[in-house]
Parts: sequence; C-alpha cells; structure tokens
Amino acid sequence: MRSRRPLYAALVCVVASLPFSASAQDAAILSAEARFHPVIAERGMVSSQEALATEIGVDVLKAGGNAVDAAVAVSFALAVTLPRAGNIGGGGFMIVHASKTGETVAIDYREKAPAAATEDMFLNDAGDADSVKSRFSGLGVGVPGTVRGLALAHQRYGSGTLTWADLIEPSIVLAREGFPVSDDLASSLSSNWIRMHLARDDEATRIFYGPTDGPPAAGTITTRPDLAATLQSIADDGPDAFYSGPIAEAIVAKVNDAGGRMSLDDLSGYAAEVRAPVTGRYKGYTIASMPPPSSGGVHLIQILNILEGLPIAESGLNAAKTIHLMSEAMSYAYADRSMFLGDPDFVDVPVGWLTSTDYAEEIRAKIDPDHATPSSEIRPGTPPAPYESNETTHFSVVDEAGNAVSNTYTLNFSYGVGFVADGTGILLNNELDDFSAKKGVPNAYGLIGGEANAVEANKRPLSSMTPTIVFKDDKVFLVTGSPGGSRIITTVLQIVVNVIDHGLDIASATAAPRIHDQWLPDEIRIEQGISPDTIRLLEEMGHTVALKDAMGSTQSILVTPEGTLHGAADPRSAGSLADGY
Ligand code: DON
Repeated sequence: MRSRRPLYAALVCVVASLPFSASAQDAAILSAEARFHPVIAERGMVSSQEALATEIGVDVLKAGGNAVDAAVAVSFALAVTLPRAGNIGGGGFMIVHASKTGETVAIDYREKAPAAATEDMFLNDAGDADSVKSRFSGLGVGVPGTVRGLALAHQRYGSGTLTWADLIEPSIVLAREGFPVSDDLASSLSSNWIRMHLARDDEATRIFYGPTDGPPAAGTITTRPDLAATLQSIADDGPDAFYSGPIAEAIVAKVNDAGGRMSLDDLSGYAAEVRAPVTGRYKGYTIASMPPPSSGGVHLIQILNILEGLPIAESGLNAAKTIHLMSEAMSYAYADRSMFLGDPDFVDVPVGWLTSTDYAEEIRAKIDPDHATPSSEIRPGTPPAPYESNETTHFSVVDEAGNAVSNTYTLNFSYGVGFVADGTGILLNNELDDFSAKKGVPNAYGLIGGEANAVEANKRPLSSMTPTIVFKDDKVFLVTGSPGGSRIITTVLQIVVNVIDHGLDIASATAAPRIHDQWLPDEIRIEQGISPDTIRLLEEMGHTVALKDAMGSTQSILVTPEGTLHGAADPRSAGSLADGY
C-alpha cells in the first residue's frame, strides 16, 4: 500500500489566499479546513465495503488489469467476505467508463422474475399483500444476474490481460484456505435478526454457524469450501457453469422447495443487458447514472435539475433552508417514482420528461421556500401524452488509464432470502419484494408502486440502486454509489451536492450527516449530527423530522484535474476501505 495522506499544512496559505468564490472543484480538492481526509493515490484506486476485497482489486490493477478487471475480482471477493450483500446469487448494476473510446455504458444484471411468476403471486387468499411470500419464501427469489453481468463486463470491457479465471482465483483462495472473520461479519452474524433469518434454513445455518457452533468471533479463520468449489467451476467453465448443470439444478431445487417457481430454463435463459446510461447536466458537470429498471439515475438527475435553480449552495450544508428545499425536491421525485418507474422492457418509462429541465422548473414553481408541502398535496406529475418510451453494497474503481467502474449489487435483504442452495454455498436473493405486490402497498423500504412495477413473468423489479459517474469536461471527476434501499438515491445526491455545491473534499462529503425524504411517510429522516436548532427551524416550516439510523455506505473516488485519486470509504461501515497505489 503506497497511498498517502494529503499535506494540507503546505496548502493552507494557498487556500487562505483563494477568493471565497473558488470553484467547488478547487475547494473539493484543497479543503484545508476539512476535518476528514481522503486516501490519496496516483495510479489506481478501489473503494469498497470490505478491506480484503479492496486489496484484491488493487492487486489486479497493479498486475496490469483495468478498472473492469478489478471490479470483477472485487465482486467475487465480496461474495466470500461480505456475504450479506456481496453475492453471486443476486444482481445489480454497473456503470463502466472506457477512457479510450470515451464510451460510458450501463450494465443491467438485475434479477428477473421467473417465467411462471404472476401478478398475484405475493397476495394471500383475501387478496392482501403477503410480505412473507415476497421476503421469506422461494417466491421472492429472482433469477440471479451477477455472474452473467460480470462475465459480460469482463468480455466487453476487460483489459484482455487477465483471464476470467485469474480474476476469480483470489476469491477461491479466500474461500478454500480461509479468511479472518471481520468485525462487521461477526457482528452481523451475531445479531438476533440475522440469526433468526438464517435459522430457517439448515444449509445456511451449517455454513455460517456450524463450524463454530454459533456466531464466529472476529478474527476466527473461516472457510467456505462449497463456495470455493462453485467459484472453481465458474472459473474453469465460465458463467454457464452457474446457469446450467449441477449448480443451476441446486438453485432451482432450493427455490422450489421453499415455495418458489423457478425453472432450469429461467436460469439458462438469463441475459445481462447493456443499456445507455441516463444522463444530465448539473452546474457544469455531466452526470451518468443507472437507467430503468433502476429508478436511481432518473430521480438523481430529476432532483439535481430541481435543485439547480434553488440557492442551496448559498444557504449552506445542512442548514434548515437547504434541508427544506432538498426534502421538497426529493418528495416530488419519489411521488413520480411510485407512478412511472418500472422495467423498460415491459413498460414505457417517461425518462426524457422526468429528467427534463422544463419539468424540473414546473416542480420548482410549486415549492414554497418557507413552508413544507404536506405529502398529501404532492401527486405524481402528468407527463405529456404520449410519452416516450440494509443490504446492498457499492464499490468504485478508477485505473491509471482513466477507466472507471461504479458498481452496486445486492441480495436485497441482508443475506437475501436467507437460503443457501444446497452444496453450492450460494446465498439466494429476495429481490422480487422490490416489485409492487399490490398497488399502493409499500415494499420493505416503504416504497409505494403501481402498475408500472407490478409482478410479471420475466420482468425485472424496480430498483433504487444508483451507481454514478460524474464528469467534468468529459473526464471522470467522481465515481460514487451506495446501498440503503430507498435512501440510495438521496444518499448519492448528497455526495454530489456536498462536493459541487458545498465544496467539500470527498472524505468530508462522505462523513457529513445525511437527510432523506421519500414522499411517504411524510417526514424528513435525519442522521445524528443535524443540530437541534436546525430541526426546530424545519419543524417551524411544517416538517416532521425523524432521527433514525445512519443511512448508506458510499464508496467514492474523486479525480483531481491533475489526475490524482482521492478515495473515501464510508465511515458508517466498519471495515470499509479505500486504497490505491
Ligand atoms: O434494488 C433496490 O433498490 C433494493 N433491493 C436495494 C436494497 C438495499 O439497498 C438494502 N440495503 N441497505
């Protein structure tokens, strides 16, 4: 590790002499006043939620792999070391920027509903939504997309210098020879909720609690022999080893034993998609983020468009006025999410309208600068007709050539549905709970949906995951993303505005207390650290303010104009690490 800490002392005079109006980009980089400092490197950087996975990614970069190669290796490693979210039995999204061609693409490897899925499959006999079916039974398991997504990324955007097997090898070694249980893994496995969740499946209990006859202590060396064998097959025979043959058979058997409806054809027919990212402009920067079936990019850009015409930089970071304006903008966006967003292969999502500056202006005109709008008065907008067609994990990678990867993937809940396909070590997801089981009934994150996100055969459930790359003058400026269910979009938003509007360096932008408003429930959710005076002012404007758990776990890399890399792993997650060389 050759990353170094910034020599801010030497910069104090320079910064002191800067006019107050120094550009946000200067401030984000120089930030002599900062209480938090990024990790700095010159050539390549990885920021992920688990240190061993970060180091594997850095080793790939040092060995001549590019950002995509590193991303593939990090993804497989997280499936071993961060099993509550890192996965091969789930799905996700990856934004890739290839510096040579200037191309930026969005790889969609979101899980799909099986062909036998039906609109009413999460309802009980009385016709009410039954969350046990969508969250805790085989019916909630989507056809996994991770392995096909990573294979597609490697094949099309890898450097060609490292093979697929080279990139899986470090994870096989971890799983076969063992790795020390991190504080984070020990603490999650000892939590009562996770113990109960995994106790429903003998195979999951055997793997996670069997060797130590209870939750493992931090520092204990643990092995995952079944997962090592599965990874070895995928390394030797490619992604087909996952989607057909004995591994696929074990997945299908487990899902169906648990009440699901998955077939071998569902697995063999699964394909990842390359989509055009959704893009927007914000104060001279270009934002590229995840299009549907994620709602993340659309609403990130919609909220930024609304904020572009509001004085949040002037009112200041986490001032009552700033929080008020952001919460109103968020609320309108989440109302639209409930109505218009779904899988674009099944429904026409009015992306152009939702991300237009005209529509943002329309919303802005409705925002009272001093008073909260009750959620009951906020309704999804009316598009012009006809319109055009806790636990996830994020990591970011930038390599020496300027390629970048922003990847968020998930099993949905911590440890997904809590079932392991027997003999494979593969934890299965419960992603199909992200569908709207019934119009107007919230999912596990309190998100409401309608027809556009109804369950249908082979459809992808709507997501909030928001892997994002921000460009300045066509060069990568910021790579970021986060877990956090419905809070993902607003968490990523705050990284962007903390850097661009408030001039924070990436470490301070990450550490700053976060807020969130998702229309329903009608409240602003805040983290610790927003002052009581600010809360009082917000309440005087008519807001309900609720202090809740920390939100998100951003993993970000900022690139200075000189090409220096500043990494910030979110301090909210024990064991996360940004590192480079
Ligand atoms: O795709 C989504 O939006 C959710 N399944 C993500 C879940 C999540 O982030 C949970 N973690 N905190």
